[in-house]
Amino acid sequence: MLSFQGENILSVNQLDREAIELIFDVAKRMEPYAKKHKRTQVLEGAVLANLFFEPSTRTRVSFGTAFNLLGGLVRETTGMQSSALAKGESLYDTARVISAYADAVAMRHPDAGSVAEFATGSDVPVLNGGDGPNEHPTQALLDLLTIDRELNRFDRSVDGMHIALVGDLKYGRTVHSLSKLLCHYKNIKFSMVAPDGLQMPDYVLDAVSNAGHQIELVSQMEGNLAADIVYQTRIQEERFPSQEEANKYRGGFRISQAIYDAHCKPESVLMHPLPRDSRSDANELDNDLNSNDNLAIFRQVQNGVLIRMALFALTLGVENKVQQYETNVPWFSRKRQS
Ligand code: NCD
Repeated sequence: MLSFQGENILSVNQLDREAIELIFDVAKRMEPYAKKHKRTQVLEGAVLANLFFEPSTRTRVSFGTAFNLLGGLVRETTGMQSSALAKGESLYDTARVISAYADAVAMRHPDAGSVAEFATGSDVPVLNGGDGPNEHPTQALLDLLTIDRELNRFDRSVDGMHIALVGDLKYGRTVHSLSKLLCHYKNIKFSMVAPDGLQMPDYVLDAVSNAGHQIELVSQMEGNLAADIVYQTRIQEERFPSQEEANKYRGGFRISQAIYDAHCKPESVLMHPLPRDSRSDANELDNDLNSNDNLAIFRQVQNGVLIRMALFALTLGVENKVQQYETNVPWFSRKRQS
């Protein structure tokens, strides 16, 4: 796949290394617009339908922001109950209707496979913003871009790195998609750090080992966090059969600055797809890490806008026209230039 125009982005399985590199190349070219050094109106008049049938803050807002930054308009639906799906409408029918109004769709839904099912009724590109415990391809791309950028700071690369994936690896779709995406790289050591009931599904482990990577399945953080990347996750309590079951795992893997000092390397990069559960009985990534330079969680968020801008530009076929529609920014641009 190297022409993205008109394509859906449903799964990381669609991407090979060449496609990933193209997306990253376009993402880097989006930086002046994301930082508001310049504006572009390349998608002026285009409409994004941003359909989020599950809770979301940054994924939903960053899809919308990415489309706005390219000059497009955003229409949003949030929650199942406020849509006709609650009246029994099929995903196919909803897609036929919505794609008649919009030029692109971003969608999140609680059921695995739902976004792909929706896409069968859409004649505009559909981007998967998370389908249940299955996939989250745009998050995996932004995570991989972040890993690449963070490791470059230490003269390291994705090939040959050691990554520790921590927490709920069973239900966490971000770690499923990221692990599969990393199959396009070489010689990676994976430490899968999860309680026994929440280990990584076999189909992901098979893909990772078939790619020639090394895997260690472990159930404790001690001795397993001295990795280049430590990727913490949230217990996905909404996907458990009961709240009681989820509560058993809450707070099992907390990382604070003291734990970082004791078990990580001085240059271990800390990542999390967010939201981090900061309730006192969970406290996945303690606030005392906020001043740790290797806490990359807010850089992940910024990279997310770049990735989503790139995917809109590519799927709508304007990746080489963005500059042509460029104008200056007349307003005062933020104090903190990140
Ligand atoms: C993740 C998700 O929704 O899968 N969040 C996100 O998109 N950044 C992770 C989570 O909710 O724990």
